[in-house]
Amino acid sequence: MFANLHHLSHHAAWRRQLEMLLESAGEGIYGIDLNGRCIFINGAGASMLGYDADEVLGRNMHYLIHHSHSNCELMPVHDCRIFKAFKEGASCRVDDEVLWRRDGSSFPAEYASYPIRDGEAVVGAVVTFSDITERKRTEAALHAARNELERRVIERTTELSSANQQLRQARDSLRRLSAHMNSVREEERAHIARDIHDDLGASLTAMQLELNWLRQRLRNDAVVCGHIDAALGIGQGAMGAVRRILNDLRPGVLDHLGLWAAIESLLDDTQARSGLRCVFVCPGEVERCRLGREAEIAVYRIVQEVLTNVQRHAGAGRVSVVARALGRDLVLEVEDDGRGMIVPLAPTSFGLLGMNERARAIGGELTLESSPGNGTTVRLRLAEVMT
Ligand SMILES: Nc1ncnc2c1ncn2[C@@H]1O[C@H](COP(=O)(O)OP(=O)(O)OP(=O)(O)O)[C@@H](O)[C@H]1O
Ligand SMILES: [Mg+2]
Repeated sequence: MFANLHHLSHHAAWRRQLEMLLESAGEGIYGIDLNGRCIFINGAGASMLGYDADEVLGRNMHYLIHHSHSNCELMPVHDCRIFKAFKEGASCRVDDEVLWRRDGSSFPAEYASYPIRDGEAVVGAVVTFSDITERKRTEAALHAARNELERRVIERTTELSSANQQLRQARDSLRRLSAHMNSVREEERAHIARDIHDDLGASLTAMQLELNWLRQRLRNDAVVCGHIDAALGIGQGAMGAVRRILNDLRPGVLDHLGLWAAIESLLDDTQARSGLRCVFVCPGEVERCRLGREAEIAVYRIVQEVLTNVQRHAGAGRVSVVARALGRDLVLEVEDDGRGMIVPLAPTSFGLLGMNERARAIGGELTLESSPGNGTTVRLRLAEVMT
């Protein structure tokens, strides 16, 4: 519907064409003159606003449909972006305001305003608008969904990091417990070794002295002497067994001569007992290095477990223990030429776990290199221990 459109065209056919065009558009379209009064509006626009087109013509569009913000607060005309734009002869596009219907309700709208020019002069503006309730609803739903997602991600991340922290604390506690158990076990072993040495060792020695005395007194009785000699032999055997047990419980050589001598003696024993060829390489600079009581026991127990594994599982002919200095680090490698193994990603068996824990407890790192058919190398690296 048009009013005062003479400046657009006086030609009836041309006006008819324009009318058809406007009426066919789905968007609302209206025009205003310099006073903001409606000079035309299409059917879609009028019905979106709840009016008949005739009721709108000549009315001031700002006061009719654009008078208030969505919160009902009045919007003075000089704040109106359409008004401002067309005063400046500029266009504008807005999608964050509402338009008001005849029944007093409003709807979120997207509108665009373009100046109508007659030559250089601006004579009015054409405004297109559409109801974007659905779009706003979808945007709001998307926004809410994104917020909810973010909230859940934050919640989940917090849960996960607290679970992680608990896990770390539990692992630290287990590690401390394991280190504590190892040191308690070593104390216990040392204690038992002392008791056996003092009680059993002293009793066996005393018994041998007594038997020797008896043998002196009865040296003329060959039969009795034979029995006494047999008893002395049993005593000797018992002394040997006690020494072996003591050595196993707490290798004296570890306390007296240090780690390297203890490992050498362990290798000698292993070779004598099992026939496995044992090689020990330890350069002077390493031999002079003492690691402290705790660390020396830990390293000794690790080598002991590795050698036990070689004897039990490897079917090897040769095992070598090589110690070397790498800068200030100490590297100890035990290598066998046995059947090898598939190295577990995270060991679960107690021998390997125990070695790992002992290494970690003294600030070391233990690695296992092996593959079926290619022997096994266990490498222990202790950082910054060389003097
Ligand atoms: N030198 C080796 N050569 C081949 N296989 C080995 C060697 N060392 C360890 N293994 C394999 O790794 C497994 C785990 O060793 P680990 O010391 O943890 O357990 P274990 O010796 O079987 O039992 P435990 O030490 O608790 O008495 C062994 O069962 C064996 O299959
Ligand atoms: Mg084992």
